[in-house]
Amino acid sequence: MTILRIESLTYGVEEPEVGIRYFEDWGLETVERGSSGAVFRTQENQVVQVRAADDPALPPAPDQGSTLREAVWGVDDAAGLARIGAELAKDRDVRTGGDGALHARDETGFAIGFRIAERKPYAGPTPELNLVDAMPRLNRRVAADQRAAPIRIGHVVYSVPKEGWIEASDFYVRRLGFRLTDRSMDLGDFLRCEGGRDHHNLGLFHAPNAARIGHVAFEVKDFDEIMFGGTFMRNQGWKPVTHPGRRIVGSNLYWNFRNPCGGATEYFADMDRMDDNWQTRVWEKHPGGDLWALEGA
Ligand SMILES: [Fe+2]
Repeated sequence: MTILRIESLTYGVEEPEVGIRYFEDWGLETVERGSSGAVFRTQENQVVQVRAADDPALPPAPDQGSTLREAVWGVDDAAGLARIGAELAKDRDVRTGGDGALHARDETGFAIGFRIAERKPYAGPTPELNLVDAMPRLNRRVAADQRAAPIRIGHVVYSVPKEGWIEASDFYVRRLGFRLTDRSMDLGDFLRCEGGRDHHNLGLFHAPNAARIGHVAFEVKDFDEIMFGGTFMRNQGWKPVTHPGRRIVGSNLYWNFRNPCGGATEYFADMDRMDDNWQTRVWEKHPGGDLWALEGA
């Protein structure tokens, strides 16, 4: 039972056309597009679906309005999928969809699903930095007017009620094999799935009486791509909800925008990577947001 990554995300949106335009501008590949819904994918073949909020086929969410309606996790193989189904069936409803995916709910009530991952490994360009005698970009200039092309979905962050947030996190650790990377008693938990190496694939941040989507993060190649992509988004009229910067916890470069489909989306690059040699850190007080940030950007 190894969960490898986020496989797909489904949003229910009150104004689907606005949500569709947002993800087009965000730089995802459009697979299908209609007036009431669309399907997008990352370069590593993770799916983002935008559907109408009143679509009866969508599972309800704990929060109202445009929001994330389901997060589906990608699993290594059929045996792993069956083990997850058997584990969750011990204490909750598990439904098998027509596509073989399993559907259930976590401790907070967020709809979660599981299916066999269909990863398309990234084979695109890597960052090119000229440094002293290293000159991977010899006789080539940095291209102007680049857009972001998200490689993969790295993490999803939810707000969960403060009361019971440890139990909400324990569910992912004890039942689904997630690892706890960092715990901030005054903020919440950063978890990574068993088959992942990112500092976090899942964030559970506590707030009084909150159960809602926080943000979804998309990895891009480098800081240039964050800035090109974010500048394009801003020029299209989408609103940043953070400055660009580099985080303390996770070390990632980032820039977040308000998503009309619910919560925010983040461009990120160069996040810390962990394996099972990493010792969980527990902070009484969160060490803060940024190593640095571009104020006024
Ligand atoms: Fe993030």
